[in-house]
Amino acid sequence: MSEAISEAVTETVEFPQDRTCPYHPPTAYAPLREQGPLARIHLYDGREVWVVTGHAEARALLTDQRLSSDRLNPDFPMPSARFEGLRDETRKSRAMLLGVDDPEHNVQRRMLIPSFGLKRIAALRPRIQQIVDRLLDDMAAAGQPAELVSAFALPVPSMVICELLGVPYADHEFFEDASRRLLRGPTADDSRKALDDLEEYFRELIIRKEAEPGDGLLDELIADRLRTGDLAHDELVGMAMILLVAGHETTANMISLGVFTLLQQPEKLAALRADPSLMPTAVEELLRYLSIADGMLRVATEDIEIGGVTIEKGDGVVFSTSLVNRDATAYESPDELDWNRSARHHVAFGFGIHQCLGQNLARAELEIALHTLFTRFPGLRLAAPAEEIPFKPGDTLQGMVELPVAW
Ligand code: HEM
Repeated sequence: MSEAISEAVTETVEFPQDRTCPYHPPTAYAPLREQGPLARIHLYDGREVWVVTGHAEARALLTDQRLSSDRLNPDFPMPSARFEGLRDETRKSRAMLLGVDDPEHNVQRRMLIPSFGLKRIAALRPRIQQIVDRLLDDMAAAGQPAELVSAFALPVPSMVICELLGVPYADHEFFEDASRRLLRGPTADDSRKALDDLEEYFRELIIRKEAEPGDGLLDELIADRLRTGDLAHDELVGMAMILLVAGHETTANMISLGVFTLLQQPEKLAALRADPSLMPTAVEELLRYLSIADGMLRVATEDIEIGGVTIEKGDGVVFSTSLVNRDATAYESPDELDWNRSARHHVAFGFGIHQCLGQNLARAELEIALHTLFTRFPGLRLAAPAEEIPFKPGDTLQGMVELPVAW
């Protein structure tokens, strides 16, 4: 490490870091909150980049076209060796949606918007309810204690996204494991191998579907976009991968961490039980409070003046959603869960052109899953001391690794 870098490293906070408590930002980020709305941090490789912690500045920057999501830009900041290892300019499938800028991004996103709109998702609610009910029946039948991540938090979104896409749920052990290795594999090689495996899986699935169509979104895309030449085969593979991985990992973490948090704050849970109509507001507040996707990444393609600093062309920019969503200038008593606040305008789903495509689906799943779980098991409690329950490290989506419960 050069002298200049080692000096910088000692002065700035490292990002990302593990949370101290699973539902609060790492205590080591405290100085960043003081320094905001923008501060300097260093990444795993010693590189210094900007971190955005101010709410107004984050929303302005996330809609600023001078910040790019192009992961093939050599200056694009990578949060870990694992992600750096996934950069591959030879494969189109590795940069769909999240990794491209407009106008290309817009073309891709427009193909998917109708399937994730409010109306389509509202029509899916009875089916989500059925899935939730059946999983809870199975959990009750298997008896206590139960491990809530594998019995409930993971299979709910996993089954739902499978049905929506037309992916056989019978393959869930394969793709859940591959997603876990992709996002949390011990080495960069493990993550690269996981991505290769997922790619191979979807390549074959799409070929099978071309011969024998089903009735999921992937089948629609094959008929309406692949056959017409609007989408290339590897582009469809890339779309399928991001939809499947983003579609189950994120919501599973929100359910497990949401349940853990509510069990740790019983007065909040009691208020929610007393008035179930609070659920949509509570889900929004939990999204803000938990900020499970803590670290959106961009690179500046031009100089940008904001918040009293100049982001220079080529600079890396990281948005800490957990700090932005707890900016005291945007939310009163931001470190408290408060069902009476309107948490809308949080950036837990991002903001701007890449704002989460699946947010309506995630909200529906969270509302149904949390409401039904706590209604069905009024005595739900942790089946191990809270401090012994493992949660995920800071360099991936935040959530519980396991959640032992009894009722
Ligand atoms: C609570 C659950 C979820 C959270 C917290 C979440 C969070 C996010 C965030 C923060 C982004 C923006 C990333 C950025 O700008 O760099 C994003 C994008 C995205 N999310 Fe989600 N997500 C969730 C659920 C889902 C679900 C259920 C799907 C289903 C398909 C999904 C699909 C996507 C896709 C495709 C994008 C990329 C959109 C684009 O680039 O245009 N997400 N999500």
